[in-house]
Amino acid sequence: MAAPHPRRLALRGDLLDFTSAPAWGDVDAAGAVRFRADHWLLIEAGRIVGARPGAEAPDDSWSRVDHRGKLILPGFIDTHVHSPQLDVIASYGTALLDWLDTYTFPAEQRYAEASEADAGASRFLDALLAHGTTSAVVFATVHKGSADALFSAACERGMRLITGKVLMDRHAPPALCDDVVQAERDCTDLIERWHGTDRLAYAVTVRFAPTSTPAQLAMAGRLCATHPGIYMQTHVAENRDEVRWVGELFPEARSYLDVYARAGLLDARGVFAHGIWLDAADRAALHAAGALIAHSPSSNLFLGSGLFDWRAAEAAGVAVAVASDVGGGTSLSIQRNLADAYKVQAMAGERLTAWKALHAATRGAAVGLGLADEIGSFNEGCMADVCVWDWASGAVAERRLDMCRALHEKVFAWMTLSDERNLVAAYVAGVPRRERHLSVTNLPTPC
Ligand code: GUN
Ligand code: ZN
Repeated sequence: MAAPHPRRLALRGDLLDFTSAPAWGDVDAAGAVRFRADHWLLIEAGRIVGARPGAEAPDDSWSRVDHRGKLILPGFIDTHVHSPQLDVIASYGTALLDWLDTYTFPAEQRYAEASEADAGASRFLDALLAHGTTSAVVFATVHKGSADALFSAACERGMRLITGKVLMDRHAPPALCDDVVQAERDCTDLIERWHGTDRLAYAVTVRFAPTSTPAQLAMAGRLCATHPGIYMQTHVAENRDEVRWVGELFPEARSYLDVYARAGLLDARGVFAHGIWLDAADRAALHAAGALIAHSPSSNLFLGSGLFDWRAAEAAGVAVAVASDVGGGTSLSIQRNLADAYKVQAMAGERLTAWKALHAATRGAAVGLGLADEIGSFNEGCMADVCVWDWASGAVAERRLDMCRALHEKVFAWMTLSDERNLVAAYVAGVPRRERHLSVTNLPTPC
């Protein structure tokens, strides 16, 4: 029998989280950054209950894990990623529309098989945890069973997961097309069975405007209207050929984003991936709706889609979070995506601080998803989704970190040089789901 999981757990290390949004370009961000060097993070019944200096060890009623000298962050939130696309990550030679036809659609067809969907869901969520991502907004495939598999695998791991079956009824291989009536039935059934269960939420998942008929978009809008609290996720304005195509398919719409707005799909529960080719009116509409942009820098670079104008989104008041968009993106590592995000901004003559970047992957994403009471920070009452990281891995990073003096310098170097190899442990609701060099077995399963 495995030892029962401790009700009271204290983790010691350098605690870093955010209490508000750092301003653009502000490397001090004193009012937003909460850095507590050498502190205990106190966790009771799976939730954060406080923190105290390292010298003030909690008593023996606490199970103590000493990660002194390591960095402790809230688990990352990946706001846009495709579970079946681990199979096609790093595929050569195409831009978005060809890439979908050549690699992605064939891979997604395999998920018609329940055994593929089940194995793929477990593999995918374990990979997220191995990269320090404890919450995610995920595209399954068009198959209802693929969403079922993800929900059930997330439930077993106690993870916060937002997902849904993909809606697609045209411009895709017949094996990947649903129809409006059956899709509505499948979505309704999935919503009733999973939405609000444990830490799970349903997202109406419109792949992108070109693969849905107007009737299907209207049905998606109806689902959102009838089930307040569910999310909607889709892609928008990612690639110039795609934007042109949407203009041909929906001539009545003012813009790509407007296609979704007209179908009732633009509101505060909306997560829109990419948003590279937006204009000022689109940004104003996103801001007014309170919707979230899932900025996917690695994918945008890899597929040659374009450079996201984060500064313009920020100026328009649009919420921006960060996403891996694997398999368009080439890594599940949020640090690698943030390092790419920095370079994208540098191309525009802008500088992305480590604070802005890490905030977008933690508290900023949580706020954008309306989940700041649950995830993204070490505020008391939040779930204890916590990751412990080596400050440096390897001689080059060790030397660089030794040379750092100011806090921002150190955290920026960490963000730029680290990846999943730095992960020491990942706790989900206070349960260790990943510990380096240890296989974690016999854990409690919330579901
Ligand atoms: N647009 C429609 N489908 C996809 C997808 O799977 N990945 C990306 N990056 N863009 C898309
Ligand atoms: Zn995507």
